[in-house]
Amino acid sequence: MKKEFLVLILAAGEGTRFKSEKIKVLHTLMGKSMLQLVLDCVFRLRPEKIHIVVGYQKEDVMKAVLSRKVDFVFQKRQLGTAHAVLAAREVLKGDRERDLLIINADLPLLRAETLKPFLSLHQKEGNSLTFLSAELENPAGFGRILRSGDKIIKIIEEKDATPSQRRIKEINAGVYLFKIKDLLQALPKVSNQNKKKEYYLTDVIEILINENKKVGLYKTSLLEEITGINSRYELAKAIEAIRERKVKSLTEKGVTVYDPSTAWIDLDVKIGQDTTIYSSVIVEGKTVIGSQCQLYPFVHIINSRLGDRVKILSSTMIEESSIGDEAQVGPFTHFRPKTVIQEGAKVGNFVEMKNTTFGKHSKAGHLTYLGDCKVEGKVNIGAGTITCNYDGKKKHKTFIGEGAFIGSGTELVAPVKIGKKAYVGAGSTITENVSSESLAISRGKQVQILGWTRKKGKK
Ligand code: UD1
Ligand code: CA
Repeated sequence: MKKEFLVLILAAGEGTRFKSEKIKVLHTLMGKSMLQLVLDCVFRLRPEKIHIVVGYQKEDVMKAVLSRKVDFVFQKRQLGTAHAVLAAREVLKGDRERDLLIINADLPLLRAETLKPFLSLHQKEGNSLTFLSAELENPAGFGRILRSGDKIIKIIEEKDATPSQRRIKEINAGVYLFKIKDLLQALPKVSNQNKKKEYYLTDVIEILINENKKVGLYKTSLLEEITGINSRYELAKAIEAIRERKVKSLTEKGVTVYDPSTAWIDLDVKIGQDTTIYSSVIVEGKTVIGSQCQLYPFVHIINSRLGDRVKILSSTMIEESSIGDEAQVGPFTHFRPKTVIQEGAKVGNFVEMKNTTFGKHSKAGHLTYLGDCKVEGKVNIGAGTITCNYDGKKKHKTFIGEGAFIGSGTELVAPVKIGKKAYVGAGSTITENVSSESLAISRGKQVQILGWTRKKGKK
């Protein structure tokens, strides 16, 4: 049976190489922060407890993981990774007989599947410490593993390494499994006599070896997973990898993605079977898309819901809205927040809606703005219809009843109601309610002056 273990995530450092106002670990990859991704990974290992060391911008970090079952430890000043672990000493004391998985929070590509055999190896070998390592063609930035023959001697950080040590390709990935009691007795022995004047967690390795404690390593060949994100370029590369993983998992669930290299689909997005994604589509946040939908090029969807068999034509933006089964939207449509498109409705070219419910099988084909509006079913909205919902101070509502017909070029000055099956003549400015089954028309009567052009010419 698997021994119980705890997790400690190191997330107190600022991440200066990022050159950002925001702490590094809150930068996001496809909708999730680095820290969240590391948490997702460790949660899947089902540890007994998870502690996160916070320091720099700790309020923001704590807020970002509020919904998670984790505890926080505070590292007042960021004096190095060993110092960060030391900050957790009090909470670890009670679990001296257990194991502790320590992870740097800048490893968002790490997966639980990779850590499982690492955990098993540590427990099987009964090590005081097992750490994750890899062999890299370009080891720049990582701590290198020094050996004498086969035997590990220590880890040397890049800044402290000699040129020949820097050529070592075997590196420390920043993931460690410790016997807590061995870790706690070794930590106070770490000094900061190095180039960075920091207390390095990696120095514990040499300390334990010199005390004849059993130290082992688990070498992974999954090099992508141990990418530590220290710079924005590394972040961009990691986003590429995560994006590809998401596209792959969607295709495995029956989604067709025509151009994986231009499909930007956030990790939390859900998409049903037989939906087709054309090139250059962006789907963000907690969007849920049904089955057999079609998303044409340059569609951008944020935190929205689409039913089944929905068709979204090119260059359409949908924010915090919901779209019913078999509706068709676009091209060039913009739904701002709180738009609800019901089943089978059709919304077309250059139509904008905001806080509007658009009823079943209603149509708005061209050049229309509907704001703060409730449109019932089977309504036809003519080209160029506009709700005048804002009087400069307040927003007002427009209601359009079932089966009504709004002629082209109509201005509906809210608050106003158009009754069921009513007609509004083209070019009207409607300022008063229109009764059901009535025709309202409000435009100047057309006059004609015969021969006007000729007479004008004579003058
Ligand atoms: C670290 C390792 C290095 C390893 C690499 C793997 C040390 C000394 N070095 O280097 O051997 O190859 O990771 O990616 O550990 N942190 C704190 N408090 C601090 C300092 C850092 O919480 O006082 C946190 C950071 O927020 C970060 C993590 O510890 O999540 C690692 O710190 P970072 O500065 O990125 O270490 P590296 O230089 O990458
Ligand atoms: Ca790092």
